Amino acid sequence: MSETNQDWFDRALRVIPGGVDSPVRSFRSVGGTPYTVVRGEGAYVVDVEGRRYLDFVQSYGASLLGHAHPAVVSALTEAVALGTTFGAPTPGEVRLAELLCARVPGLEQVRFVSSGTEAVMSAVRLARGATGRSRVVKFDGCYHGHSDALLVAGGSGVAQLGLPGSAGVTPGAVADTTVAPYNVVPELDETVAAVLVEPVAANMNLVAPRATFLAELRAACDRVGALLIFDEVITGFRLDYAGASNAFGVTPDLWCFGKVIGGGLPVGAFGGSARLLESLAPAGPVYQAGTLSGNPLATAAGSTVLEYVTPEHYAQLNARVDRFATDLTEAVTAAGLYAAVPRVGPLLGLYLAREPVEAPTNFAEAKAIGDNGLYAGFFHAMLQRGVALAPGAYEILFVSMAHGEAELDRAVDVAGEAAAVVAAT
Ligand SMILES: Cc1ncc(COP(=O)(O)O)c(C=O)c1O
Repeated sequence: MSETNQDWFDRALRVIPGGVDSPVRSFRSVGGTPYTVVRGEGAYVVDVEGRRYLDFVQSYGASLLGHAHPAVVSALTEAVALGTTFGAPTPGEVRLAELLCARVPGLEQVRFVSSGTEAVMSAVRLARGATGRSRVVKFDGCYHGHSDALLVAGGSGVAQLGLPGSAGVTPGAVADTTVAPYNVVPELDETVAAVLVEPVAANMNLVAPRATFLAELRAACDRVGALLIFDEVITGFRLDYAGASNAFGVTPDLWCFGKVIGGGLPVGAFGGSARLLESLAPAGPVYQAGTLSGNPLATAAGSTVLEYVTPEHYAQLNARVDRFATDLTEAVTAAGLYAAVPRVGPLLGLYLAREPVEAPTNFAEAKAIGDNGLYAGFFHAMLQRGVALAPGAYEILFVSMAHGEAELDRAVDVAGEAAAVVAAT
């Protein structure tokens, strides 16, 4: 008897809490049973029932070239035969660090970790250690991973499940975290170690920074001697060939990366000037470590992706997503709904509404639309027609470099049909 998604999810529910290893994968906010993926190919994933979906999840942005890209598969095949982890320095981590530092103006050194969460957590520790200050300012609706101090007013899965934060995070753990509305420069003083920001907010669906927001943040940090940290876990090497700091012309003190730089394997990195990074152990007093940090497989995959892409690839992706955004808006509107479809480079958001809407500028505005209940019906109508979006209203659409014109045109047609289904309810 062939196995169904329900069979696998039932098995998962018995041994994995909620049946998923990350809450954003659950269908809690949209209802129904998740599809269980057995393989991916380019812009598509295939589930255990053999159904093929045009995939706009793309591992929440980890996959830039599309699934199982031949260059990545071949680099991994070569790397795996040499051994998977050693607990000693490897050429692979040096190569990837050199690539990152060569590409991002101002980035002189990076330390690798195994996830975006670790990257941001470690960058914050470094900022506190280097400044001798405690407070960290973050923005409402920005997600920086699941470390205690930063799991307050996060977007993404926390917003999707309607949670204010997380049980188990003590008041003490967040006592030094201040939350400010996105796109407003907060009041800072000499107690602030760092201001942490997603240069483009991509965990409350998509919220673009105001034209001068990032430059004003830079100036505000400089006035009080606070460090500016860009969390580029999503924007890094997706928004632009050299990331958001390059795209916006604003240089932070510390960068955090993840997702794309691991080519689909578990990686994170944080970095900045050599002078600042000197504070890290073993050179300095800020401790930070990891058994699998700089893993040879992950650095091989990441280097392959970064070496593969050229500025022309990004220009092409940008142009495709630009047209896709326009077509998507038209299709949804023609079907009787309204849509705000914010786009920053190849980062694309989608807010559905029954009335005309503007693209939100902060989390409160994003929630006012995101919680209107339209997304679940749209999501399922798309999925039934073979187009997979993230199962939550606060994620963005990840268009990979494997999504061609034909795929995007099909997604537009399907979105029109799905919007008509929702409009009729
Ligand atoms: C902006 C941002 N920072 C940090 C993280 C945490 O990364 P990870 O899930 O790899 O721990 C995420 C994850 O989605 C993210 O979007």
